[in-house]
Amino acid sequence: MERCACPAALLLLSLAVLMGAMAFDVEIKDDKNATCIYAKLSVNVTVQYETNTSSTKNVTFSVPSEVTTNGSSCGSNGKAPILVINFGNGHSWSLNFTRNDSMYSGGALIFTYNTNDSTLFPDALKEGLISSTAAFLGPIPLNSTYKCISSEVVVSENVTQIISDVKLEAFMQNGTLGKEVSCDADKPSPTPTTNPSTTASTTTPTPTSKPLDNPTTGNYSVSDVNGTCLLASMGLQINTSLLSEGKNIWTAFNIDPTAMSKNGTCSNQTGTLILTDNSTVIEFTLALKNKNHFYLKEVNVALINGSASSTRQNQNLSAWEASVGSSYMCHKEQQIKVSEDLVINSFDVRVQLFGVKNETFATAEECLADSDLSFLIPIAVGAVLVFLIILVLVSYLIGRRKSRTGYQSV
Ligand SMILES: *[C@@H]1O[C@H](CO)[C@@H](O)[C@H](O)[C@H]1NC(C)=O
Ligand SMILES: *[C@@H]1O[C@H](CO)[C@@H](O)[C@H](O)[C@H]1NC(C)=O
Ligand SMILES: *[C@@H]1O[C@H](CO)[C@@H](O)[C@H](O)[C@H]1NC(C)=O
Ligand SMILES: *[C@@H]1O[C@H](CO)[C@@H](O)[C@H](O)[C@H]1NC(C)=O
Ligand SMILES: *[C@@H]1O[C@H](CO)[C@@H](O)[C@H](O)[C@H]1NC(C)=O
Ligand SMILES: *[C@@H]1O[C@H](CO)[C@@H](O)[C@H](O)[C@H]1NC(C)=O
Ligand SMILES: *[C@@H]1O[C@H](CO)[C@@H](O)[C@H](O)[C@H]1NC(C)=O
Ligand SMILES: *[C@@H]1O[C@H](CO)[C@@H](O)[C@H](O)[C@H]1NC(C)=O
Ligand SMILES: *[C@@H]1O[C@H](CO)[C@@H](O)[C@H](O)[C@H]1NC(C)=O
Ligand SMILES: *[C@@H]1O[C@H](CO)[C@@H](O)[C@H](O)[C@H]1NC(C)=O
Ligand SMILES: *[C@@H]1O[C@H](CO)[C@@H](O)[C@H](O)[C@H]1NC(C)=O
Ligand SMILES: *[C@@H]1O[C@H](CO)[C@@H](O)[C@H](O)[C@H]1NC(C)=O
Repeated sequence: MERCACPAALLLLSLAVLMGAMAFDVEIKDDKNATCIYAKLSVNVTVQYETNTSSTKNVTFSVPSEVTTNGSSCGSNGKAPILVINFGNGHSWSLNFTRNDSMYSGGALIFTYNTNDSTLFPDALKEGLISSTAAFLGPIPLNSTYKCISSEVVVSENVTQIISDVKLEAFMQNGTLGKEVSCDADKPSPTPTTNPSTTASTTTPTPTSKPLDNPTTGNYSVSDVNGTCLLASMGLQINTSLLSEGKNIWTAFNIDPTAMSKNGTCSNQTGTLILTDNSTVIEFTLALKNKNHFYLKEVNVALINGSASSTRQNQNLSAWEASVGSSYMCHKEQQIKVSEDLVINSFDVRVQLFGVKNETFATAEECLADSDLSFLIPIAVGAVLVFLIILVLVSYLIGRRKSRTGYQSV
């Protein structure tokens, strides 16, 4: 019996070692011994390098499970937390993190390889450390663990990484992992038996016209030490195909201002309003432009569905612009495109960044859409009519005068 069990146990053990060999699993602790970064992930790397015969060659390897974390830090004195994974003969993989009030993201993913390592790069021309920088991860709701079994391909100069089996959290609170949020790729996809003709016909997603009432207008304000720095009132509707799990069906829902908890912060250049309920986090960031204008610069949206969460962001908007010291106003419905699959419809917007006095909006600068041309049409028609009447009258009078002078001269 014993002799029988041994090979099986050995096989299991070696399988476990083989599988484990592909992923590293590390914790970074702060000076109070509390874990601030947890990371378990598997990284396969392909590096394209120049050989001493002046050709290029590709080498593929996995980051092993045997790694050290020297150089990692939880962040302090304004420095971002950073995870540094050192392995093999001088190679490293590092990722730093940023956060705001509700989300955290990865920053620069720097892969550094040592072409002096003759096992991996036996015939490399340029010998030494070479770093290649990419972006990875984000934004994830704070206090939650990002989980992604599916592989993601990260490409940077001469380096292609396949990152899979990820479980990662930064900015951890008292050393405990938060609830897991899955990446989109892990979410159950629609059954692959879908009719190819229907999938082909839905290649251009367009937000549906929504048989929804207009949303209730909510009043929001964000304060700092100097009082209110951001004042807003608006109705919000989210229109997205994210909830249909890849089926590309758009649904719209209204934000109920009374159900949202409101939060935010201001710096000397920006103001951020954060609206949260149990299934949605929306973040609006307004910023200064050329010192004397403000505008909506960034919107982040997270839709939380049980343990899964999808986040979308647009950091490059230019909407809601007005002069500092005035407020921006737009009654018309506007669409703020956050991503290909998420649009915010805003109604009756009035916002002001900075210069808010006595909790009230300053003079409004109204959006172009509000200066509706349709009400100009009756005025224009009226003006043309009046002009025509005058023309007829004048030519009649001139004609009469001419004929009279004609009579007189004869
Ligand atoms: C941190 O924890 C380790 C083991 O858990 C212990 O050996 C070490 O003394 C602790 N350090 C501090 C600063 O508490
Ligand atoms: C990573 O490489 C190993 C072999 O080294 C392979 O078994 C595994 O499937 C690869 N993982 C991915 C996600 O490509
Ligand atoms: C990337 O590879 C090309 C060709 O092999 C080489 O010329 C270039 O210097 C490499 N870039 C870096 C950053 O190593
Ligand atoms: C190396 O990989 C790059 C990118 O994956 C590819 O374009 C190139 O053809 C490969 N080179 C060789 C020699 O296989
Ligand atoms: C992350 O690292 C990159 C490269 O070193 C740096 O440019 C960036 O500012 C860092 N991010 C933060 C938040 O410190
Ligand atoms: C609002 O934000 C502050 C600062 O990030 C945070 O301490 C506070 O808990 C937040 N309040 C709510 C209700 O989320
Ligand atoms: C994260 O957790 C900490 C402590 O548990 C809490 O103070 C903070 O408000 C939480 N932040 C969010 C965005 O949930
Ligand atoms: C984390 O710490 C906060 C206060 O610092 C405490 O209320 C909370 O229960 C702790 N959570 C866990 C899971 O220990
Ligand atoms: C508060 O107002 C003072 C004076 O106007 C200004 O210098 C300071 O930057 C403001 N503080 C913040 C956080 O906006
Ligand atoms: C605004 O804040 C930045 C850093 O957050 C600081 O460098 C700058 O001096 C501040 N400007 C003013 C006018 O306070
Ligand atoms: C979220 O809150 C709404 C009411 O605010 C409630 O009806 C719903 O059941 C809540 N959902 C969850 C998952 O807690
Ligand atoms: C502030 O606003 C309130 C009502 O909105 C008004 O009664 C009051 O007179 C205002 N105060 C000043 C100083 O304008």
